[in-house]
Amino acid sequence: MATTEQIFKIDRAMRQSLNQHTAKCIWLTGLSGSGKSTLANLLEQELHNSGKRTYILDGDNVRQYLNADLGFSDEDRTENIRRIAHVARLMVDAGIIVIVAFISPFAKDRQLARSLFAKDDFLEIYIEAPLEVCEQRDTKGLYAKARANELKNFTGIDSPYEAPSSPELTLNTTQLSPSELVKKTLKHFNFNS
Ligand code: ADX
Repeated sequence: MATTEQIFKIDRAMRQSLNQHTAKCIWLTGLSGSGKSTLANLLEQELHNSGKRTYILDGDNVRQYLNADLGFSDEDRTENIRRIAHVARLMVDAGIIVIVAFISPFAKDRQLARSLFAKDDFLEIYIEAPLEVCEQRDTKGLYAKARANELKNFTGIDSPYEAPSSPELTLNTTQLSPSELVKKTLKHFNFNS
C-alpha cells in the first residue's frame, strides 16, 4: 500500500523539551519468571518519582488485547515482538521512556527491534536467572504445566531462549535484590541526572 508520511509541527525534540528529559526504549528480555515485570515495575516507579514520563509494555498485558490473536509458536512470537517494537518506537517518538518487558526469546527479533531505534535510544537489558531458578519460583504455575505437557512451546522447556550476546546491561536476579538492581540500572544509564 502506498502511503505518504505526514509531517506534523510538534516533533519529538519539542516533546522532550517539554518533558525535560530524553525518551528511551528500555528493553527487558529474559525467561518467564526471571523478574522482568518486577524490575519494570520498580524501575518505572523510580523514574516516575524523579519526574520522568514513562510507560510499561508487558507481555502478559499486551497479549490480552492488542496481541490477543497471537499464541506462542515461533511465528507468533516474532509477530508479537515486531508489533511491540513498533509501539515502543511510537512511544519514544511521543517523548516517553518506555520499558518493554517481553521474553523476546529470539535474537533476530530483538535485533529487528533494535534496528528501529537510534543507537542511544535502545537499551537492552538481559534479565538473567537460570532456568532452574525460574522453574522453582514458578510464580504463575506455568512451568509445572509445561512439564506436565499441558502447555506446549514453553520457553526454556520445549521452546528456545537465545540469551543476548551484547546487551547494554545484564542484571542477575539471583544475586541482588530488585531494588539493588534498579539502583544499578539507574546508575549505569545515568538516569538520575
Ligand atoms: S514472547 O516470547 O512472545 O516474548 P511474552 O513476553 O509476550 O512472550 O509472553 C510471555 C508470558 O506469557 C509469560 O510470562 C507467561 O506468563 C505467558 N505464557 C503462556 N504460555 C507461554 C509459553 N508457551 N511460553 C512462554 N510464556 C508463556
